[in-house]
This record gives sequence, structure tokens and C-alpha cells, in this order.
Amino acid sequence: MIQIKLPFIHLKTNAFSYVIHITQVEKIEHVYFGKPLIDDDFKPLLFKPTAGVGSAILYDRNGQNLNLDFFPSEYSEFGKGDFRLTPLELHMPDGSFVTDFVYHSHEIQKGIYPSNDLPIGKENDSVESLILTLKDTKYDLYLKLIYTLYEDSDVLGRRAILVNNDETVHIRKLMSMMVDFVDCDYDLLSLQGGWIKESHKEITPLQRGTLLLESTTGASSNRVNPGFILMKKGTHEDFGSCYGFNLIYSGNHYEAIQVSNHGMTRVMSGIHPQAFHYELAKGQSFETPEAILTFSALGLNTLSNQFHHFIHEHITPRQFKGLLRPVVINSWEAFFFDFNESKLVSLAKKAKKLGVELFVLDDGWFGNRNDDTSSLGDYTVNLKKLKGGLKRLSDTIHKLGLKFGLWFEPEMISEKSVLYQTHPDWVVKVDGRTPSLGRNQWVLDLTNGEVRNYILKSMKQILNETLIDYIKWDMNRHITDAYSKHVKHPGMFYHEYIKGLYAILKDLTETYPNLWIESCSSGGNRFDLGMLSYTPYVWASDNTDPIERLKIQGGLSYFYPLSTISAHVSLSPHAQTIRTTPLSTRFNVAAMGCLGYELNLKYVTKAEQTEIKHQIELYKIYREVFQQGHFYRFNSPRKDLTLFQVSHNQTHILGFYQNGYDASPNTDVIQVKNLKPNQTYSIESVQQTMPIQQFGHLIAHAIPIKLNPNGYLMHKIGQYKRLNNATESYVVSGAALMQGIPVIQQFSGTYYNEQTRLLGDFGSQIYIIKEVGETHA
Ligand code: DGJ
Repeated sequence: MIQIKLPFIHLKTNAFSYVIHITQVEKIEHVYFGKPLIDDDFKPLLFKPTAGVGSAILYDRNGQNLNLDFFPSEYSEFGKGDFRLTPLELHMPDGSFVTDFVYHSHEIQKGIYPSNDLPIGKENDSVESLILTLKDTKYDLYLKLIYTLYEDSDVLGRRAILVNNDETVHIRKLMSMMVDFVDCDYDLLSLQGGWIKESHKEITPLQRGTLLLESTTGASSNRVNPGFILMKKGTHEDFGSCYGFNLIYSGNHYEAIQVSNHGMTRVMSGIHPQAFHYELAKGQSFETPEAILTFSALGLNTLSNQFHHFIHEHITPRQFKGLLRPVVINSWEAFFFDFNESKLVSLAKKAKKLGVELFVLDDGWFGNRNDDTSSLGDYTVNLKKLKGGLKRLSDTIHKLGLKFGLWFEPEMISEKSVLYQTHPDWVVKVDGRTPSLGRNQWVLDLTNGEVRNYILKSMKQILNETLIDYIKWDMNRHITDAYSKHVKHPGMFYHEYIKGLYAILKDLTETYPNLWIESCSSGGNRFDLGMLSYTPYVWASDNTDPIERLKIQGGLSYFYPLSTISAHVSLSPHAQTIRTTPLSTRFNVAAMGCLGYELNLKYVTKAEQTEIKHQIELYKIYREVFQQGHFYRFNSPRKDLTLFQVSHNQTHILGFYQNGYDASPNTDVIQVKNLKPNQTYSIESVQQTMPIQQFGHLIAHAIPIKLNPNGYLMHKIGQYKRLNNATESYVVSGAALMQGIPVIQQFSGTYYNEQTRLLGDFGSQIYIIKEVGETHA
């Protein structure tokens, strides 16, 4: 709800209040962001200036005693006495950087204030917008601050639009939002990383000075995600006040958290100002991407679930809202570039028997692409590999009862390609300089309309000729040599590139509304709300090692729901970490996302295939819980233990993941969150198996015959037989489960029977919890 009682504007949801004040000197004051306020007497919350002292500068309109350097502002600027970081830097017609924006007008409207060419939150009945317009005191230049209240999700969207009715202005920096806090006792939670280590949670205490989260790679990047959280000291998963921020944008981004010399915290987020420059002539306007803000007084899990709700309701393409993601088999880690039709069909047949629903043909199907040095841009099928063409393959796959998916890397070009021979000028580069290579490829200039048309035309030709249910949209390098003669100023390049990308995605998704698109950028190099506005999910990382994935998926879960996180089971030892992990753990982690398999089933034993079949059966039964449920992290009782919970309606699923096995381990106590204390629940662990070889020479103690642990017989038996791990089940009250119940002991070194829980290093277990019976009186 947006309430106006001038001079105050109150934006309110069930989780927070956000209060704005139009001061007497018409500067806009940020009054409050936090727990919902019941009272609307906001005067005691106002900034209380006294006489300016020492080096203070006074903002002198109407003789008011206002020192902007202390003033909690809705959107600060340069040149009138606020010496903190500015969200706005304009080179003005008078040659200066000085601006002075003051209140001009405001308006409330039902629904969304539209955007011309950027993705913003999608509308539903709960949405209301405030348009607060400021005007420069010298020029006919307007700054529209757009506040979109997504009340059902407890989220506030913010963006800025600069409208010029005067002489030309040059924009050097224009942030989507800024929030001033009067205090600074916060920790910053951010997602840091790189290739195959994306989105690792990092907690940094604020201190005087500026912390920057930034990407200048041309993408939102695997270095640092645009999502971040400020939390009051002492906040944890289920306790404390925290503020969440994100940006609906896929390009260079900049988030600054600055603690001033007077202990106030300023937060801003938007397009990175590096190499950014827009010329705004009379009659033109520029709009920023939308930033997303939310607040929870109940800890990080609640905050995350607000973000998740927002994504389900307002970001995910409408036609995919609530739609359950199919179980995938992907050809990449199975074959890389080395495949032919019969290998693919054989993989598909095996996968179908195990319950897989969608077959994805990854890289290598077009041109002469037998490695990563050629053919990007030439999407003509390689008939040496696929003798019957794509259509025959797609038909065969569909006849098997599977859906068919295809990989593209539309934004890229290889030097060895017909496209490059024909259009060398379509590469992003500076005349007279050889552009730098990344994965042996260059970037296509998406600011050029001809390039965009070519991409759409070549993709549509394939999509029209062949039945394709899904595409994987990959993008495997950062952008360098950023320049194009198709933009007026080089400072426009990166942003116009992203707008070009969105224009292509918009066209494609409008033409093929039911086409599933999974976005990917060397894994999670572009995991952001911009891509998610067009593609329902993202390949989270090229790293499928489950122990690494716990960090990656756990990190992403702070901002993104499991329905957006694509996660596959691959072979062990893992290709990137050489770590050996149980098949059960690989599944137990991938199930906390959109499940797929990415391995050559030829190298999977019969016994493992049976286990995979059971995994997929289980996943399908609980798919809605996994993909649409509320997600919770735990403050783990053990250093190397991760616990996740996902809950939907009356079903709860708990994932227990240990890194290392402790000799003579403590009793494990498991807790389940958000149950009804007086309700009875059943809790059952999922049956999983272990390879016989895991026991090595100890197998002699488990079976009556003596076998050479490294011998042929043991190996042969292992292909067909795996050992059941202990299962357990209880019926217990919600109160007891929320408090925590002990589960059966793990193997403790001397004794083993079928009732021993044997998890070992990297072992894990999934528990299913359901409501049963009557509530206790
Ligand atoms: C990078 C992706 O992350 C992989 O999954 C795979 O699609 C390769 N690209 C193909 O080149």
C-alpha cells in the first residue's frame, strides 16, 4: 500500500515500511526502511539538524540549516555539500558536474510504470507505483524516481529515469537506487567467485570507507553477483534484521556500500559507471535497470523466501510460472565434441529407461565444430556427425518419448567460420587492433541491428524446421575491445549490447512462448534477474561436484529459488576437482534444484543405473516440493555439515550433507523448520545404496566369502550389486521435530550391521517429512 500524507509518503507491506519525506527546502529525505510501522507520525524519525559547525557546508535555499553531508537522502547528487559517493554524475550544459534536484511532483498509479527496453518486474494485482519527479533548479531536466511496490512479495522496486527538456546533458553515472542508513553496524553478505566456484557466500563486516561489488566483464559475472544483503550484527538464518538488494540486469553492475566519516551507511546499485557515457539531447530520456529491495526482521531465510516469491511471481516468464522443470540428460560431459547420431540415440535410450524426460544436445552439432576453435555463428548441422540431420535426430528422440533440446551460443563468432569470412565487421573490436580471444572466440556486436536479425533468423530457421522443446543459451567469454560504430559514444556500448541481447530474447520468447530456455555463461557467469526475466532457469556452474555445488547452490539460494537453479549429476571422480563422491550425494545435492544427468551412461554400472532410476522416481514424486517449495538453510551445528530444507504444502524435505566423516562421531540431531507444533509428522530417510568396493578389504567382515578387494570378482559383483544403507522412520510431533531428534548413529569404527548409518566422507541423506493423522489436542 502506498499512503500519501504530505510531506510524507509511506510504502508499506506486511514485512516493511519505507518512508520518504519532502522537506521544506524540497530536498527528498529518506526517513525509514525497516519493520512495518503502525503509526504514521513520522516526525520523530526525521533528521534533526542543528547549527552547522566546523567544516560543514550548508545547503542555502530558503536559509534552512541543512548540511547535506549528514542528510539521509533518497537520491543524492554532486556539488551541493554531500561529499559521500554520489549515485548521479551529470556533465551539465554549463560545463560543470553540479546539479540540484528538488521535489517537483508525485503520482501514484496502480500497476507498473512501463519500461521501454529493459526487463522489469511483471505486474499482478498487488502492484502499485509511485513516481516521484524531481527537477533541477537551473535546467529543464527531470529525475523521475520510480518506486514499484510488489506488495505480495514484500519487495520494493526502484529505478530512475532522467528526462531532458533542455540543452544536451552527458550522463557519467546514474544509479538505479540509493538508500541511506543512519547507522553502520552491519555485515555485508555477498556472492563472490569465479569460473567453477561461483556464488560463494562471503560475509564482510562494514567499516569506514567503501566496499564495492562490481562487474566490468560485460556480464553480471561469476566474480560477484549483483545480489547482496546488509544484516544487523548478530543476524543469522532465522533471526535478525536484514536488507536484501538485487538488480534486474545482466551487464556491468556496481554496488557500493559506503560508511561515511560520521558513521552513516550509504548503499547504491546500478549500471557500472566505468566506460559508461550517454549523451542526452533535448527531448530524450534515459532509464536505469530496476533495483530490488526487501527487508526481513526474521532473519535470512525469510528474506530469501521474499526474493524467491518475487521471482516466481514477477520475474519468471508467465508461461513457466509454477511449471515443473523436466528431468534432463545433457550430452556435454557425456561426449564433449566427440559424438555421432548413434552415440546420442544410445544415450537417449538408456536415459529414457531411467526416467529422464528431456534430451539435450549440447555443443558440437554444427559447422566443423570438433573442438572450441571453430564454427560459432554457423548454425548449419554437421552432417558428418548427424547423418540424418537435426530433424531426424529430433524425431527419433521424440519417438523415444523424450523432449528434445539444443545448444546455441548466439552471441559469439569464431574466426574459423563462414560468418566471419562474410561479415568480419560484425565482431566487437576497435579498428586497427586485433581483438583479444576468450575460449578461442570473439563477441558479435549486438548493438548492430543486422547482427541481431542474423541471430534471430538463423535460430528461427532451425526452430521452424525441427521440433525443439528447449534451448540452452550459452555465452562463454567476457567482453573486451568494447567498441562499435553503431553506438553514438563508446560509453554506450556495454549497455546497448545488453539491450540488444534483451531485444533478441524478447523476440524469441514472444515467437516461441513455450520454448524452454536455459541460460548459461560458462556455467554461472550470468546468473541474474535480467536473464531470468526471459529464461526460466540458469545453469549454475560447470562444476557439478556436489561438495562444490553445496557452496554454489547454497550461495545462490539467498537470492534465487530452486526452480531457477539447474543442477546435474555427473561422474565421479569429478572432472574438475578429482574428488570421489557417492552417487547418492550427487543426487541429493542436484535434487535441490532442477535435476538433470550429465554423464555417459555407458560408464554407469547396472547397479548404479538402478539407483539413478530410483532417484528420478523419487524426484518426480516430490518435484513440486523441490522446485516450488520454501527453501531454508540452517545454522549448522557442525562446521563441515550443510543442512537444507525445502517445504511445500504438507511435505518437507531435509538434506543432510557432511564433508568429512569424524572418527567416533557425535550423535546427529536433525531439526525441521516451520512445522505445526501440535501436528504429528512421519519422517523417513530415503533408501540409498553404496558400492561394495567402498568397504575395501573390510568386505570380508560383511559377507561370508573371502574376496580380493581389488580382484575381478569383487569388481564384477560391484557392477550388479550395491549395499543398502540403513533407513529409519519415525512418527513424531512437530514440536519434537522442530526441537530436533537424534537419528541413528553413524558407523563408529568397530561394528557394522544393516542398521548402521554409513555415510563416510561426502556422505549425505535425504529425509522426507509429512503431516499425518490428527492434531494433538
Ligand atoms: C559451457 C557450458 O557451461 C557447458 O555446460 C557446455 O555447454 C559448454 N559451454 C559447451 O561448450
